[in-house]
Amino acid sequence: MSTSAKFPADFHWGYATASAQVEGSISADGKSPSIWDTFSSDPAHSEDGGNTSTATETYTKWQEDIALMKSYGVNSYRLSLSWTRILPDGVAGSKVNKAGVEWYRKVLKGLLEAGITPFVTLFHWDLPQVLQDKYLGFLSSEIVPDFENYARVCYRELGDLVQYWFTINEPNVYSLLGHAIGKHAPGRSSDRNISPQGDSQTEPLIVGHNLLLAHASAVKVYHDDFASSQGGKIGLVVNMLWGEPLTDSAEDKAATEKFLAVYNGWFAEPLVTGDYPALFKEVHGSRLPAFTDNQKALVKGSSDFLAINHYTTNMVRAADSSAAPTTGPLSAFLPGIEIGFEDKDGKPIGPAAGLSWVRPVPWGFGKLLDWAHKSYGLDIYISENGVVCPNENRLSRDEALQDDFRVNYLSTYADQIALKIEQGVPVKSYLMWAFTDNFEWQEGYTARFGVTWIDYQDDCRRYPKKSAGYMRNYFAARLAR
Ligand code: GAL
Repeated sequence: MSTSAKFPADFHWGYATASAQVEGSISADGKSPSIWDTFSSDPAHSEDGGNTSTATETYTKWQEDIALMKSYGVNSYRLSLSWTRILPDGVAGSKVNKAGVEWYRKVLKGLLEAGITPFVTLFHWDLPQVLQDKYLGFLSSEIVPDFENYARVCYRELGDLVQYWFTINEPNVYSLLGHAIGKHAPGRSSDRNISPQGDSQTEPLIVGHNLLLAHASAVKVYHDDFASSQGGKIGLVVNMLWGEPLTDSAEDKAATEKFLAVYNGWFAEPLVTGDYPALFKEVHGSRLPAFTDNQKALVKGSSDFLAINHYTTNMVRAADSSAAPTTGPLSAFLPGIEIGFEDKDGKPIGPAAGLSWVRPVPWGFGKLLDWAHKSYGLDIYISENGVVCPNENRLSRDEALQDDFRVNYLSTYADQIALKIEQGVPVKSYLMWAFTDNFEWQEGYTARFGVTWIDYQDDCRRYPKKSAGYMRNYFAARLAR
Protein backbone atom coordinates (compact mmCIF):
# COMPACT_ATOMS: atom_id res chain seq x y z
CA MET A 1 0.00 0.00 0.00
CA SER A 2 1.45 3.34 -0.86
CA THR A 3 0.24 6.59 0.57
CA SER A 4 0.99 10.25 0.30
CA ALA A 5 0.04 10.91 3.91
CA LYS A 6 2.28 13.45 5.57
CA PHE A 7 4.26 13.51 8.79
CA PRO A 8 3.88 16.43 11.20
CA ALA A 9 6.73 18.96 11.30
CA ASP A 10 7.87 17.79 14.75
CA PHE A 11 8.10 14.13 13.71
CA HIS A 12 11.48 12.56 14.52
CA TRP A 13 13.11 10.45 11.86
CA GLY A 14 16.58 9.02 11.54
CA TYR A 15 18.62 5.96 12.34
CA ALA A 16 19.71 3.97 15.38
CA THR A 17 22.81 2.19 16.68
CA ALA A 18 24.02 0.76 20.00
CA SER A 19 27.37 1.16 21.74
CA ALA A 20 28.60 -2.44 21.67
CA GLN A 21 27.60 -2.78 18.02
CA VAL A 22 29.49 0.24 16.67
CA GLU A 23 31.95 1.86 19.03
CA GLY A 24 34.92 -0.52 19.06
CA SER A 25 37.96 0.77 21.04
CA ILE A 26 36.84 -1.43 23.89
CA SER A 27 39.73 -0.64 26.22
CA ALA A 28 40.29 3.01 25.30
CA ASP A 29 40.27 5.80 27.86
CA GLY A 30 39.54 3.68 30.90
CA LYS A 31 36.66 1.55 29.58
CA SER A 32 36.29 -1.81 31.34
CA PRO A 33 34.92 -4.96 29.64
CA SER A 34 31.19 -5.42 29.16
CA ILE A 35 29.55 -8.84 29.07
CA TRP A 36 29.40 -8.49 25.29
CA ASP A 37 33.14 -7.84 25.06
CA THR A 38 33.70 -11.02 27.05
CA PHE A 39 31.03 -13.15 25.38
CA SER A 40 32.00 -12.20 21.83
CA SER A 41 35.69 -12.81 22.51
CA ASP A 42 34.81 -16.51 22.13
CA PRO A 43 34.57 -17.01 18.34
CA ALA A 44 32.09 -19.82 18.85
CA HIS A 45 29.55 -17.25 20.00
CA SER A 46 28.94 -15.66 16.63
CA GLU A 47 28.34 -16.74 13.08
CA ASP A 48 31.69 -15.43 11.79
CA GLY A 49 33.65 -15.35 15.05
CA GLY A 50 33.31 -11.56 15.09
CA ASN A 51 33.60 -9.58 18.31
CA THR A 52 33.08 -6.07 19.66
CA SER A 53 36.71 -4.98 19.66
CA THR A 54 36.62 -2.82 16.53
CA ALA A 55 32.99 -2.91 15.38
CA THR A 56 32.58 0.09 13.05
CA GLU A 57 35.17 2.22 14.89
CA THR A 58 32.66 4.87 15.76
CA TYR A 59 34.78 5.75 18.77
CA THR A 60 37.31 7.33 16.41
CA LYS A 61 35.05 8.05 13.43
CA TRP A 62 32.20 9.84 15.20
CA GLN A 63 32.73 13.16 13.42
CA GLU A 64 32.62 11.49 10.03
CA ASP A 65 29.46 9.70 11.12
CA ILE A 66 27.70 12.88 12.15
CA ALA A 67 28.62 14.51 8.82
CA LEU A 68 27.31 11.46 6.97
CA MET A 69 24.09 11.48 8.96
CA LYS A 70 23.64 15.13 8.20
CA SER A 71 24.01 14.35 4.50
CA TYR A 72 21.22 11.78 4.94
CA GLY A 73 18.91 14.61 6.01
CA VAL A 74 17.86 13.08 9.33
CA ASN A 75 16.60 15.19 12.22
CA SER A 76 17.21 12.54 14.92
CA TYR A 77 19.60 9.75 15.89
CA ARG A 78 19.40 7.02 18.50
CA LEU A 79 22.61 5.91 20.22
CA SER A 80 23.33 4.07 23.46
CA LEU A 81 25.78 4.75 26.26
CA SER A 82 28.32 2.20 27.33
CA TRP A 83 28.00 1.81 31.11
CA THR A 84 31.63 0.58 31.24
CA ARG A 85 32.97 3.81 29.71
CA ILE A 86 31.14 5.94 32.25
CA LEU A 87 31.46 3.79 35.40
CA PRO A 88 34.16 1.17 34.73
CA ASP A 89 33.63 -0.39 38.18
CA GLY A 90 29.89 -0.57 37.59
CA VAL A 91 28.69 -0.24 41.15
CA ALA A 92 27.01 2.65 42.93
CA GLY A 93 29.52 5.00 44.51
CA SER A 94 32.35 4.02 42.15
CA LYS A 95 34.40 6.61 40.32
CA VAL A 96 33.00 8.33 37.24
CA ASN A 97 35.37 8.01 34.29
CA LYS A 98 35.69 11.57 33.04
CA ALA A 99 37.22 10.48 29.72
CA GLY A 100 34.19 8.32 28.95
CA VAL A 101 31.77 11.09 29.86
CA GLU A 102 33.75 13.57 27.76
CA TRP A 103 33.55 11.34 24.69
CA TYR A 104 29.76 11.20 24.93
CA ARG A 105 29.56 14.95 25.55
CA LYS A 106 31.53 15.55 22.35
CA VAL A 107 29.27 13.26 20.34
CA LEU A 108 26.05 14.73 21.76
CA LYS A 109 27.23 18.29 21.18
CA GLY A 110 28.29 17.36 17.65
CA LEU A 111 24.83 15.98 16.95
CA LEU A 112 23.07 19.05 18.34
CA GLU A 113 25.33 21.35 16.31
CA ALA A 114 24.36 19.35 13.20
CA GLY A 115 20.68 19.88 14.02
CA ILE A 116 20.19 16.22 14.99
CA THR A 117 18.19 15.39 18.13
CA PRO A 118 19.82 12.60 20.14
CA PHE A 119 17.72 9.76 21.57
CA VAL A 120 19.89 8.15 24.21
CA THR A 121 19.56 4.59 25.52
CA LEU A 122 21.10 3.98 28.94
CA PHE A 123 21.36 0.22 28.58
CA HIS A 124 21.53 -1.64 25.29
CA TRP A 125 22.76 -4.96 26.75
CA ASP A 126 26.46 -4.18 27.41
CA LEU A 127 26.39 -4.77 31.15
CA PRO A 128 29.66 -4.27 33.07
CA GLN A 129 31.33 -7.68 33.32
CA VAL A 130 32.22 -6.84 36.92
CA LEU A 131 28.51 -6.83 37.80
CA GLN A 132 27.92 -10.13 36.05
CA ASP A 133 30.84 -11.59 38.02
CA LYS A 134 29.80 -10.00 41.31
CA TYR A 135 26.14 -11.04 41.48
CA LEU A 136 25.09 -12.43 38.07
CA GLY A 137 23.91 -9.08 36.75
CA PHE A 138 20.16 -8.81 36.28
CA LEU A 139 19.57 -12.15 37.96
CA SER A 140 20.11 -10.32 41.24
CA SER A 141 18.03 -7.50 42.68
CA GLU A 142 21.36 -5.89 43.66
CA ILE A 143 21.40 -4.59 40.11
CA VAL A 144 18.56 -2.17 40.84
CA PRO A 145 20.46 0.39 42.99
CA ASP A 146 23.51 0.06 40.74
CA PHE A 147 21.47 0.78 37.63
CA GLU A 148 19.69 3.62 39.38
CA ASN A 149 23.06 5.13 40.30
CA TYR A 150 24.37 4.73 36.74
CA ALA A 151 21.25 6.44 35.39
CA ARG A 152 21.67 9.32 37.84
CA VAL A 153 25.29 9.80 36.74
CA CYS A 154 24.17 9.89 33.10
CA TYR A 155 21.42 12.48 33.74
CA ARG A 156 23.79 14.60 35.80
CA GLU A 157 26.73 14.44 33.37
CA LEU A 158 24.87 14.42 30.05
CA GLY A 159 21.27 15.41 30.71
CA ASP A 160 21.73 19.03 29.64
CA LEU A 161 22.27 17.66 26.12
CA VAL A 162 19.45 15.08 26.06
CA GLN A 163 15.69 15.50 25.72
CA TYR A 164 14.79 11.86 25.00
CA TRP A 165 15.99 9.03 27.21
CA PHE A 166 15.38 5.32 26.70
CA THR A 167 16.16 3.37 29.87
CA ILE A 168 16.54 -0.22 28.68
CA ASN A 169 16.51 -1.76 25.23
CA GLU A 170 14.27 -4.76 24.67
CA PRO A 171 14.07 -6.37 28.10
CA ASN A 172 12.20 -9.28 26.50
CA VAL A 173 15.09 -10.05 24.14
CA TYR A 174 17.75 -9.55 26.84
CA SER A 175 15.90 -11.95 29.13
CA LEU A 176 15.11 -14.63 26.56
CA LEU A 177 18.20 -14.65 24.36
CA GLY A 178 20.63 -14.18 27.25
CA HIS A 179 18.98 -16.37 29.88
CA ALA A 180 16.89 -19.00 28.07
CA ILE A 181 18.28 -19.52 24.59
CA GLY A 182 21.82 -18.63 25.60
CA LYS A 183 22.80 -17.13 22.26
CA HIS A 184 23.31 -13.64 23.68
CA ALA A 185 25.51 -12.57 26.58
CA PRO A 186 25.66 -13.70 29.31
CA GLY A 187 24.80 -16.92 27.48
CA ARG A 188 22.83 -18.80 30.13
CA SER A 189 20.47 -21.64 29.28
CA SER A 190 19.12 -24.98 30.53
CA ASP A 191 20.65 -26.53 27.44
CA ARG A 192 23.92 -27.96 28.75
CA ASN A 193 25.36 -28.03 25.23
CA ILE A 194 25.10 -24.27 25.27
CA SER A 195 25.87 -23.33 28.84
CA PRO A 196 27.07 -25.01 32.03
CA GLN A 197 24.69 -22.79 33.96
CA GLY A 198 21.17 -21.51 33.68
CA ASP A 199 17.50 -22.39 33.94
CA SER A 200 15.52 -21.34 30.89
CA GLN A 201 12.19 -21.68 32.68
CA THR A 202 12.85 -19.38 35.61
CA GLU A 203 15.84 -17.13 34.90
CA PRO A 204 14.32 -15.02 32.10
CA LEU A 205 11.40 -14.23 34.40
CA ILE A 206 13.68 -13.16 37.26
CA VAL A 207 15.87 -11.13 34.93
CA GLY A 208 12.77 -9.54 33.42
CA HIS A 209 11.47 -8.63 36.86
CA ASN A 210 14.73 -6.93 37.82
CA LEU A 211 14.90 -5.15 34.46
CA LEU A 212 11.46 -3.66 35.09
CA LEU A 213 12.40 -2.57 38.61
CA ALA A 214 15.70 -1.09 37.39
CA HIS A 215 13.87 0.74 34.61
CA ALA A 216 11.21 2.11 36.95
CA SER A 217 13.78 3.20 39.56
CA ALA A 218 15.81 5.02 36.91
CA VAL A 219 12.68 6.79 35.68
CA LYS A 220 11.77 7.84 39.21
CA VAL A 221 15.19 9.45 39.62
CA TYR A 222 14.69 11.36 36.39
CA HIS A 223 11.14 12.43 37.23
CA ASP A 224 12.03 13.43 40.81
CA ASP A 225 15.37 15.12 40.32
CA PHE A 226 15.98 16.06 36.70
CA ALA A 227 12.80 16.37 34.61
CA SER A 228 11.85 19.83 35.85
CA SER A 229 15.29 21.35 35.20
CA GLN A 230 16.21 19.39 32.07
CA GLY A 231 12.75 19.08 30.56
CA GLY A 232 13.21 15.72 28.85
CA LYS A 233 11.07 12.59 28.50
CA ILE A 234 11.98 9.03 29.41
CA GLY A 235 10.65 5.55 28.71
CA LEU A 236 11.25 1.87 28.03
CA VAL A 237 11.94 0.23 24.65
CA VAL A 238 10.00 -2.99 24.04
CA ASN A 239 10.52 -5.35 21.12
CA MET A 240 7.09 -6.13 19.68
CA LEU A 241 5.92 -8.58 17.07
CA TRP A 242 2.57 -8.50 15.40
CA GLY A 243 0.64 -11.77 15.52
CA GLU A 244 -2.18 -12.61 13.15
CA PRO A 245 -4.46 -15.57 13.81
CA LEU A 246 -3.98 -18.23 11.15
CA THR A 247 -7.72 -18.85 10.91
CA ASP A 248 -10.90 -17.37 12.35
CA SER A 249 -11.25 -20.23 14.81
CA ALA A 250 -11.73 -19.33 18.45
CA GLU A 251 -8.62 -21.39 19.27
CA ASP A 252 -6.33 -19.51 16.89
CA LYS A 253 -7.71 -16.18 18.06
CA ALA A 254 -7.11 -17.12 21.69
CA ALA A 255 -3.61 -18.32 20.86
CA THR A 256 -2.90 -14.99 19.17
CA GLU A 257 -4.14 -13.04 22.14
CA LYS A 258 -1.87 -15.09 24.37
CA PHE A 259 1.07 -14.57 22.01
CA LEU A 260 0.62 -10.78 22.10
CA ALA A 261 0.19 -10.73 25.88
CA VAL A 262 3.21 -12.91 26.50
CA TYR A 263 5.63 -11.36 24.05
CA ASN A 264 4.53 -7.72 23.77
CA GLY A 265 2.63 -7.36 27.01
CA TRP A 266 5.22 -8.83 29.37
CA PHE A 267 7.01 -5.47 29.57
CA ALA A 268 4.50 -3.02 28.11
CA GLU A 269 1.49 -3.71 30.31
CA PRO A 270 3.26 -3.25 33.68
CA LEU A 271 4.20 0.28 32.60
CA VAL A 272 0.51 1.14 32.53
CA THR A 273 -1.05 -1.13 35.16
CA GLY A 274 1.86 -1.83 37.51
CA ASP A 275 1.52 -5.58 36.96
CA TYR A 276 2.03 -8.36 34.41
CA PRO A 277 -0.78 -9.27 31.99
CA ALA A 278 -3.21 -11.83 33.41
CA LEU A 279 -2.46 -14.20 30.52
CA PHE A 280 1.26 -13.93 31.21
CA LYS A 281 0.70 -14.86 34.85
CA GLU A 282 -1.44 -17.77 33.74
CA VAL A 283 1.30 -19.12 31.45
CA HIS A 284 4.07 -18.87 34.05
CA GLY A 285 2.23 -19.52 37.31
CA SER A 286 4.41 -19.62 40.40
CA ARG A 287 7.65 -19.25 38.41
CA LEU A 288 6.85 -15.58 37.89
CA PRO A 289 8.08 -13.25 40.65
CA ALA A 290 5.33 -11.06 42.10
CA PHE A 291 5.50 -7.31 42.56
CA THR A 292 4.97 -5.95 46.07
CA ASP A 293 2.46 -3.10 46.40
CA ASN A 294 5.30 -0.57 46.55
CA GLN A 295 6.90 -2.02 43.44
CA LYS A 296 3.57 -1.92 41.60
CA ALA A 297 3.25 1.75 42.44
CA LEU A 298 6.81 2.34 41.22
CA VAL A 299 6.33 0.51 37.91
CA LYS A 300 2.86 1.90 37.14
CA GLY A 301 3.17 5.05 35.04
CA SER A 302 6.95 4.64 34.73
CA SER A 303 7.13 5.45 31.03
CA ASP A 304 6.36 8.83 29.49
CA PHE A 305 5.82 6.98 26.21
CA LEU A 306 6.05 3.52 24.73
CA ALA A 307 9.10 2.96 22.53
CA ILE A 308 8.71 0.03 20.15
CA ASN A 309 11.30 -1.91 18.18
CA HIS A 310 9.46 -3.84 15.52
CA TYR A 311 10.69 -6.02 12.69
CA THR A 312 8.10 -8.56 11.61
CA THR A 313 4.75 -10.31 11.84
CA ASN A 314 3.99 -13.94 12.57
CA MET A 315 0.95 -16.06 11.81
CA VAL A 316 -0.20 -17.70 15.01
CA ARG A 317 -2.09 -20.91 15.57
CA ALA A 318 -3.12 -22.97 18.53
CA ALA A 319 -1.20 -26.22 18.79
CA ASP A 320 -1.52 -29.23 21.00
CA SER A 321 0.16 -28.08 24.18
CA SER A 322 1.45 -31.56 24.88
CA ALA A 323 3.31 -31.58 21.55
CA ALA A 324 7.02 -30.88 21.57
CA PRO A 325 7.70 -27.14 21.25
CA THR A 326 7.92 -26.19 17.62
CA THR A 327 9.74 -23.27 16.18
CA GLY A 328 11.89 -20.47 17.41
CA PRO A 329 13.25 -19.03 20.60
CA LEU A 330 9.81 -18.34 21.96
CA SER A 331 8.57 -21.89 21.77
CA ALA A 332 9.46 -22.87 25.34
CA PHE A 333 7.85 -19.67 26.47
CA LEU A 334 4.67 -20.11 24.51
CA PRO A 335 3.39 -23.62 25.11
CA GLY A 336 0.50 -24.53 22.88
CA ILE A 337 1.30 -21.90 20.26
CA GLU A 338 2.91 -22.23 16.87
CA ILE A 339 4.12 -19.30 14.85
CA GLY A 340 5.15 -19.06 11.22
CA PHE A 341 5.26 -17.01 8.05
CA GLU A 342 2.66 -18.85 5.98
CA ASP A 343 -1.04 -18.13 5.80
CA LYS A 344 -3.67 -20.86 5.99
CA ASP A 345 -3.24 -21.64 2.28
CA GLY A 346 0.48 -22.07 2.72
CA LYS A 347 1.25 -18.76 1.04
CA PRO A 348 4.13 -16.72 2.52
CA ILE A 349 2.95 -13.50 4.18
CA GLY A 350 6.08 -11.69 3.03
CA PRO A 351 9.14 -12.37 0.89
CA ALA A 352 12.19 -14.03 2.46
CA ALA A 353 14.80 -11.56 3.70
CA GLY A 354 18.47 -12.08 4.58
CA LEU A 355 17.66 -13.42 8.05
CA SER A 356 15.18 -16.19 8.66
CA TRP A 357 13.28 -14.47 11.52
CA VAL A 358 12.28 -11.34 9.64
CA ARG A 359 9.94 -10.87 6.72
CA PRO A 360 8.47 -7.62 5.41
CA VAL A 361 4.79 -7.45 6.39
CA PRO A 362 3.92 -3.74 6.48
CA TRP A 363 0.20 -4.30 7.13
CA GLY A 364 1.16 -6.18 10.31
CA PHE A 365 3.02 -3.09 11.50
CA GLY A 366 -0.09 -0.98 10.93
CA LYS A 367 -2.14 -3.43 13.00
CA LEU A 368 0.48 -3.43 15.74
CA LEU A 369 0.35 0.37 15.96
CA ASP A 370 -3.43 0.27 16.34
CA TRP A 371 -3.17 -2.48 18.96
CA ALA A 372 -0.43 -0.77 20.98
CA HIS A 373 -2.37 2.49 20.95
CA LYS A 374 -5.58 0.82 22.02
CA SER A 375 -3.92 -1.36 24.63
CA TYR A 376 -1.66 1.18 26.32
CA GLY A 377 -2.77 4.67 25.30
CA LEU A 378 0.76 6.10 25.39
CA ASP A 379 2.58 8.14 22.77
CA ILE A 380 4.51 5.74 20.56
CA TYR A 381 8.13 6.14 19.51
CA ILE A 382 9.37 3.68 16.90
CA SER A 383 12.93 3.18 18.08
CA GLU A 384 14.01 0.43 15.63
CA ASN A 385 12.72 -1.06 12.40
CA GLY A 386 14.71 -2.52 9.54
CA VAL A 387 15.73 -5.51 7.48
CA VAL A 388 18.61 -7.39 5.87
CA CYS A 389 18.31 -7.88 2.10
CA PRO A 390 18.41 -11.43 0.72
CA ASN A 391 22.03 -12.66 0.53
CA GLU A 392 23.23 -9.19 1.42
CA ASN A 393 26.48 -10.30 3.00
CA ARG A 394 27.43 -12.38 -0.02
CA LEU A 395 27.02 -9.55 -2.51
CA SER A 396 29.85 -7.39 -3.82
CA ARG A 397 29.93 -3.85 -2.50
CA ASP A 398 28.42 -2.41 -5.66
CA GLU A 399 25.61 -4.94 -5.61
CA ALA A 400 24.97 -4.41 -1.92
CA LEU A 401 24.66 -0.65 -2.36
CA GLN A 402 21.60 -1.23 -4.57
CA ASP A 403 19.45 -2.30 -1.63
CA ASP A 404 16.01 -2.11 -3.21
CA PHE A 405 14.65 -4.73 -0.84
CA ARG A 406 15.45 -2.39 2.08
CA VAL A 407 14.11 0.65 0.21
CA ASN A 408 10.84 -1.17 -0.18
CA TYR A 409 10.75 -2.36 3.43
CA LEU A 410 11.57 1.00 5.03
CA SER A 411 9.32 3.08 2.79
CA THR A 412 6.29 0.81 3.14
CA TYR A 413 6.74 0.63 6.92
CA ALA A 414 7.08 4.43 7.05
CA ASP A 415 3.88 4.68 4.97
CA GLN A 416 2.08 2.74 7.69
CA ILE A 417 3.17 5.27 10.29
CA ALA A 418 1.94 8.17 8.16
CA LEU A 419 -1.42 6.45 7.67
CA LYS A 420 -1.81 5.67 11.36
CA ILE A 421 -0.91 9.23 12.37
CA GLU A 422 -3.65 10.41 10.02
CA GLN A 423 -6.04 8.03 11.76
CA GLY A 424 -5.11 9.44 15.16
CA VAL A 425 -2.43 7.07 16.47
CA PRO A 426 0.17 9.24 18.24
CA VAL A 427 3.40 8.00 16.63
CA LYS A 428 6.23 10.45 17.26
CA SER A 429 9.32 8.89 15.70
CA TYR A 430 10.67 6.52 13.10
CA LEU A 431 14.24 5.53 14.00
CA MET A 432 15.42 2.89 11.58
CA TRP A 433 17.83 0.08 12.28
CA ALA A 434 20.53 0.82 11.39
CA PHE A 435 22.65 3.82 10.52
CA THR A 436 25.48 1.54 9.38
CA ASP A 437 26.14 -2.17 9.09
CA ASN A 438 27.47 -3.23 12.48
CA PHE A 439 28.20 -6.02 14.96
CA GLU A 440 24.94 -7.90 14.89
CA TRP A 441 25.30 -9.95 18.11
CA GLN A 442 25.22 -13.69 17.41
CA GLU A 443 25.30 -13.02 13.67
CA GLY A 444 28.66 -11.29 14.04
CA TYR A 445 29.22 -9.04 11.04
CA THR A 446 27.27 -11.26 8.63
CA ALA A 447 23.91 -9.50 8.99
CA ARG A 448 24.10 -6.08 7.35
CA PHE A 449 21.17 -3.99 8.58
CA GLY A 450 22.69 -0.61 7.69
CA VAL A 451 21.69 2.07 5.23
CA THR A 452 25.47 2.54 5.10
CA TRP A 453 27.74 -0.24 3.88
CA ILE A 454 30.86 -0.83 5.94
CA ASP A 455 34.04 -2.13 4.34
CA TYR A 456 35.42 -4.26 7.16
CA GLN A 457 38.50 -5.03 5.04
CA ASP A 458 39.38 -1.38 4.55
CA ASP A 459 39.38 0.51 7.82
CA CYS A 460 35.60 0.39 8.10
CA ARG A 461 35.09 2.84 5.26
CA ARG A 462 31.51 4.01 4.94
CA TYR A 463 29.48 3.85 1.69
CA PRO A 464 25.87 5.07 1.57
CA LYS A 465 23.44 2.49 0.24
CA LYS A 466 20.59 3.49 -2.05
CA SER A 467 18.17 3.36 0.91
CA ALA A 468 19.93 6.28 2.65
CA GLY A 469 19.25 8.59 -0.30
CA TYR A 470 15.78 7.18 -0.84
CA MET A 471 14.68 7.85 2.74
CA ARG A 472 16.19 11.34 2.64
CA ASN A 473 14.01 12.18 -0.36
CA TYR A 474 11.03 10.36 1.13
CA PHE A 475 11.06 12.51 4.27
CA ALA A 476 11.99 15.69 2.38
CA ALA A 477 8.74 15.22 0.45
CA ARG A 478 6.56 14.08 3.38
CA LEU A 479 7.62 16.03 6.44
CA ALA A 480 5.41 19.06 6.92
CA ARG A 481 7.34 22.31 7.20
C1 GAL B 1 17.23 -5.64 17.96
C2 GAL B 1 18.37 -5.02 18.74
C3 GAL B 1 19.37 -4.31 17.88
C4 GAL B 1 19.65 -5.02 16.57
C5 GAL B 1 18.35 -5.46 15.90
C6 GAL B 1 18.53 -6.23 14.61
O1 GAL B 1 16.67 -6.67 18.70
O2 GAL B 1 17.88 -4.09 19.67
O3 GAL B 1 20.52 -4.10 18.65
O4 GAL B 1 20.54 -6.04 16.75
O5 GAL B 1 17.61 -6.23 16.77
O6 GAL B 1 18.69 -7.59 14.82
